[in-house]
Amino acid sequence: MILETRNLEFSYPDGTKAIDDISIVIPEGKRISFVGKNGSGKSTLFLLLNGTLKPKKGKIIYDGKDVEYSSSGLRDLRKKVGIVFQNSDDQLFAPTVYQDIAFGPTNLGYSKEEVERVVNQMLDHFGIRHLKDKPPHHLSGGQKKRTAIAGVLAMDPEVIILDEPLSNLDPVGADEILDILNELNHMGKTIIISTHDVDLAYAWSDYVYLLSDSRLIDEGSPGAVFSKEEQVRDSSLKNPLILDIYRELEKRWLSTGNGHPKDLPELVRTLRSIDLMRIDISPEVAVGQCVNLGVLFGDYTKEGLYEAVNSRVLFRNDDGTAVVELKRRVLRPGAVYVYNMESFDKDEFETIVKKYDINHIGAMGKLSKDIAENQGIQIVCNSGVIDRSILNAITGSRCLILTSQGMVAHTAKRVRDYIKNSGIRLIFSPIGKGAAEIDYQTQAAGSSSDLDKEI
Ligand SMILES: Nc1ncnc2c1ncn2[C@@H]1O[C@H](COP(=O)(O)OP(=O)(O)OP(=O)(O)O)[C@@H](O)[C@H]1O
Ligand SMILES: [Mg+2]
Repeated sequence: MILETRNLEFSYPDGTKAIDDISIVIPEGKRISFVGKNGSGKSTLFLLLNGTLKPKKGKIIYDGKDVEYSSSGLRDLRKKVGIVFQNSDDQLFAPTVYQDIAFGPTNLGYSKEEVERVVNQMLDHFGIRHLKDKPPHHLSGGQKKRTAIAGVLAMDPEVIILDEPLSNLDPVGADEILDILNELNHMGKTIIISTHDVDLAYAWSDYVYLLSDSRLIDEGSPGAVFSKEEQVRDSSLKNPLILDIYRELEKRWLSTGNGHPKDLPELVRTLRSIDLMRIDISPEVAVGQCVNLGVLFGDYTKEGLYEAVNSRVLFRNDDGTAVVELKRRVLRPGAVYVYNMESFDKDEFETIVKKYDINHIGAMGKLSKDIAENQGIQIVCNSGVIDRSILNAITGSRCLILTSQGMVAHTAKRVRDYIKNSGIRLIFSPIGKGAAEIDYQTQAAGSSSDLDKEI
């Protein structure tokens, strides 16, 4: 810690108690913000921190030593702790901008050349060289602010206190000052600011103090302090915009709950990936309507082996395409079962059709077809049966291939080879009593038995 206050109290001569029992510990090299409504005591606290005001009670400790209010004690403190006042007119008094910036370093006993070097550096750094001969009271508000900050930085203090540093500055000018502050912080300086700009305090600070009615009511990381919405409201502050947007997105499941994004890139990182696809679309389908996209499998699925994909049109392009949001539903994978018709048993067969939820039956070979016909079994496929069954299984069908005993092993090999070579996982299994009598495992070399199981 570099700067500390203990039970600090201060009242103005008219009796206004502006600081009431404030104890803070400011760590070295950090970016600190004080936030709080008008009149909460920020400026008064800052004037106490660099010894411009003397506390009524309590004390200030700099670098481990109690601040002494002798003239040498105060000179030492002010050399280390520079302050840029809220109102630049309180700060600027020399006849020209150049002389104003030169005042501090001259007072610190710098040589003439050293003063010249520092002032010139500041004039360039703050983009005010063209104003160097102007009287400060002829400057615009933003120009005054830059001159005032330049004057303080010219003394190279360890701790830089800035009371509302960005007020009066245009957005680009404000960014330039922030860049300078960040650079100084990078070089190890402790930067303390006050601000009503909650977005700035939230995004920029390492640590935030919240003042209200002369008292310290909260402190902590910006995320911790600004996530207490009620406290923020009671302090006449607003929620940081990024945090507000994040909360609204989170409520709508568009962002993932990972805390407190500080800036746009961090906010963007919280966005959930929405499942979008660009498709060709017929002219009748309007935005908001749904289009069925069929079934995805393999590399295109997210959760299951197969997914039925519905989609909602989000945006129509002029070229007959649309951006749709996918709504996926995991489908049960398709299956191919093989039944040995030479051991046909009507009861068993009916049980199998029901139990395995068969909706596609194909018959291979004359024998199987004849039995099926005699038994009144509805065959939907009687040529290219293995391939058709595989194709149907891929889209979720439950296929049963009726065949003779000699063909079971052949069928098993074909289906298993397909599964192995394509990487598309289907359920495959010979079923029924007849299947058990066949040593299809050894006959269908290279098969993998785990594919027989329901997945
Ligand atoms: N010179 C003064 N004499 C009497 N009272 C004062 C004086 N300066 C400030 N005050 C009072 O002290 C309290 C704290 O004022 P201070 O200027 O520290 O608040 P602030 O938090 O900086 O407010 P703002 O956001 O408006 O800058 C206020 O009630 C204010 O009226
Ligand atoms: Mg103030």
